[in-house]
Amino acid sequence: MSKIYTVAVVGATGVVGREMIDLLQELNFPVGRLVPLASARSAGATVLFKGENIDVQVLNEDSFKGVDFALFSAGGSVSKEFAPIAAKSGAVAIDNTSYFRMHPEVPLVVPEVNANAIASHKGIIANPNCSTAQMVMALKPIYDLAGIERVVVSTYQSVSGAGKAGIDELEKQARLSLNGGDFVAQKFPHTIAFNLIPQIDDFLPNGYTKEEIKMIEETKKILGDPTIQVTATTVRVPVFVGHSESINIQTKRKVSAAEVREALRKMPGVIVMDDPPNSVYPTPRETAGKNEVFVGRIREDLSIPNGIELWCVADNLRKGAALNAIQIAQALIA
Ligand SMILES: NC(=O)c1ccc[n+]([C@@H]2O[C@H](COP(=O)([O-])OP(=O)(O)OC[C@H]3O[C@@H](n4cnc5c(N)ncnc54)[C@H](OP(=O)(O)O)[C@@H]3O)[C@@H](O)[C@H]2O)c1
Repeated sequence: MSKIYTVAVVGATGVVGREMIDLLQELNFPVGRLVPLASARSAGATVLFKGENIDVQVLNEDSFKGVDFALFSAGGSVSKEFAPIAAKSGAVAIDNTSYFRMHPEVPLVVPEVNANAIASHKGIIANPNCSTAQMVMALKPIYDLAGIERVVVSTYQSVSGAGKAGIDELEKQARLSLNGGDFVAQKFPHTIAFNLIPQIDDFLPNGYTKEEIKMIEETKKILGDPTIQVTATTVRVPVFVGHSESINIQTKRKVSAAEVREALRKMPGVIVMDDPPNSVYPTPRETAGKNEVFVGRIREDLSIPNGIELWCVADNLRKGAALNAIQIAQALIA
């Protein structure tokens, strides 16, 4: 009989945690026991797993006894405190927050790109930022084909990237707005309904936001190449699920759009949707709920000799978070 595992989901009542539970089921992950964990606010809540309502438990130091995999998505401070406790209890902690991502001893993994990094783990493995995860899926085949000098990315990120509160805020503001009502921005710095906001996370003294710096640093770590120059502008848009990215890539050697299209077609987990005359390219609405990263609008940049432009869309709750974490666990048991 093949082995079954005890899996804890920390942040089980959040948008990423719920997606993790759905995906464990959908991917038929060999779960013997599911341990859904959240804060005291969720006391009495249940989650549905394989037709069974399972009580959500309040996270504490004893939550990880007998746990094989602890999937964290409850914020950086929770991971900071509890991921080491989970690891000490014998679990592998797979962390969705930014807390451990740039820690030199913690591998930062997108399995299709750098699964080899997993083996070096010491009990904690980090999952990248949602925007980074989908971008490196598109960059990796191009990196292998022609090398990469520089990446210029602009993102169009959905409100679910900011959790339940982000989804609620867009829904409430959109309704009120259509009814001529007044609304107050709480989760986002400005009204998000029928608007967009060129700020995700806090600003740093250099004028970039923390989200932008995450994309810059995490890309270099995952591709294992600190020489790649990356610059990013991250923008919140009034979309519920799915992050989109306009990516400009300066390659080391000139490659044609056709070569890039072919390389992306061969990349596991990537789907090329690229037929401009028929208006075929990915949109967040069409790709939400799907596991793959979708790429379209692949073309040669007319402004430089070695440039490629493309458009990349993925479900931020899946490849950007829950799916990638479960794929790391799958790689560990493979
Ligand atoms: N959304 C994304 O696309 C995405 C992508 C990658 C990474 N992440 C990261 O994943 C984390 C969660 O994101 P989310 O979008 O799922 O947020 P969310 O919808 O707001 O959910 C947060 C979850 O964390 C739990 N939680 C909060 N404080 C806790 C505490 N002190 N102890 C135990 N549980 C606690 C909440 O439980 P209660 O319901 O009991 O409050 C809830 O289950 C964040 O660190 C985020 O940066 C999110």
